[in-house]
Amino acid sequence: MRGLWRGLLLACALLASLVPFKLNAAPVNTPLYPEMPAPAAAPADPPGLVALGRQLFFDTRLSEPRGTSCASCHAPAQAFSGNHGSRIGVALGGRPASLGTRNTPSVLYLRYTPPRFFYQDDDALAPIPFGGFFWDGRANTLVEQVQGPLFNPLEMNNRDAGQLARKLQQAYALDMRVQFGAAIFQRPAQTTEAAGRALEAFLRSDEMTPFSSRYDDYIRGRVKLSTAEMRGLRLFKDPDKGNCASCHKFNDSSSNPARSLFTDFGYDAVAVPRNRRIAENRNPKFYDVGLCKTAAQLQWPDSSQWCGYFKTPSLRNVAVRENYMHNGVFSELRDAVAFYATRATKPGDWYKSGVKFDDVPPAYRENININSVPYNRREGSKPALSDSDVDDLVAFLKTLTDAAYVRQQAGSVGK
Ligand code: HEC
Ligand code: HEC
Repeated sequence: MRGLWRGLLLACALLASLVPFKLNAAPVNTPLYPEMPAPAAAPADPPGLVALGRQLFFDTRLSEPRGTSCASCHAPAQAFSGNHGSRIGVALGGRPASLGTRNTPSVLYLRYTPPRFFYQDDDALAPIPFGGFFWDGRANTLVEQVQGPLFNPLEMNNRDAGQLARKLQQAYALDMRVQFGAAIFQRPAQTTEAAGRALEAFLRSDEMTPFSSRYDDYIRGRVKLSTAEMRGLRLFKDPDKGNCASCHKFNDSSSNPARSLFTDFGYDAVAVPRNRRIAENRNPKFYDVGLCKTAAQLQWPDSSQWCGYFKTPSLRNVAVRENYMHNGVFSELRDAVAFYATRATKPGDWYKSGVKFDDVPPAYRENININSVPYNRREGSKPALSDSDVDDLVAFLKTLTDAAYVRQQAGSVGK
């Protein structure tokens, strides 16, 4: 085991020195957090490929049966999130009553998500994983990722590459040949990978990185934030109060909005309460263990240390989401924030089963993060954040809504 660890450390050190996303030393004005990964350069995807990807994204003929597209769950009106009309916090699939076990994340700003890598922070004992797609990091690249939903029986449910390739040939023969060459329909596996490339090009396009929120205008020096929003921003950063920025990283002293993605692309075990509306959860033995499943598949040593870990999502456009957290347990943004404030001090308010950390198998509850502010407190003690602090944090989070979605925000006109 020891030898394995040493091998891993070495491999990681080597890897960390190779990855372009390595976190740099903290700048002088924000000494507490390492610098955000350098923003990825705009990809050089040809406009024709982006346009093809966009068409595929909205095409309801690509599911089995027809009627579900990527946009059914990643709804453009909701910053490309949503659960296809399901009200229980997890996505409804393309077939009737085919409900998944996870909440649909927004697919905006994915251009900046790096492939998986390990990185060791100055004060950390060992390198830890970052990057990758899905709540559990099981896809390493977007091309790999976007082929998932096309075949997932709970999503678009195509039987195999052959079935999908036939649909693509019927609908996109000319465009696909222009983009990928005359032979693109000869091998179905190649055809579906090409569709993945086109979808990736769309997801990485400028359209999917609008940076048009009030926060973005604020760091560009164009608008001021209200006093409540500014209080929220400070609480968000303050390592003794919200401490949110230790995971949801941002840099308000840079006018480059790509330095404020509100995630470090890392993973954490936050122990959100069990969502009892998920059908699978009626089985007391069913648990969604998150990153450790990926870790086991990738044969990381001691993979069970990652059970209960899920990806830290970007908080851009968080106020227009219908549900929060990987299992969609919360439907109000205020609850998601208040949970951080009192998870440790009043657990009974959150874990309705009466069991703390009830959505993590008992054997892995020791993985849960109990050391980070704001939940490094004792039961019954004073929370790190007061009720009005929580309100201020919510006010700040609402400044992260891009211009196109402001009307969708909870409490705004039309909702
Ligand atoms: C039935 C609903 C549904 C459909 C249809 C769907 N998705 Fe998703 N999508 C989800 C859910 C739920 C997740 C989170 C799943 C997980 O983490 O295991 C997800 C995750 C993703 C992610 C990962 C985002 C991240 O932050 O890591 C991408 C990218 C994505 N979907 C793209 C697509 C594309 C492209 C299509 C169409 C080919 C599509 N999705 C179709 C529900 C859906
Ligand atoms: C130790 C790392 C960490 C800290 C500190 C942290 N978060 Fe998170 N945050 C996460 C992770 C990981 C998730 C996803 C958890 C899950 O789904 O199981 C998350 C999810 C969220 C979500 C739900 C987003 C969505 O799309 O569903 C919100 C809102 C949020 N955090 C806000 C905050 C706020 C506000 C603070 C500070 C009070 C904070 N977070 C502090 C790691 C962190």
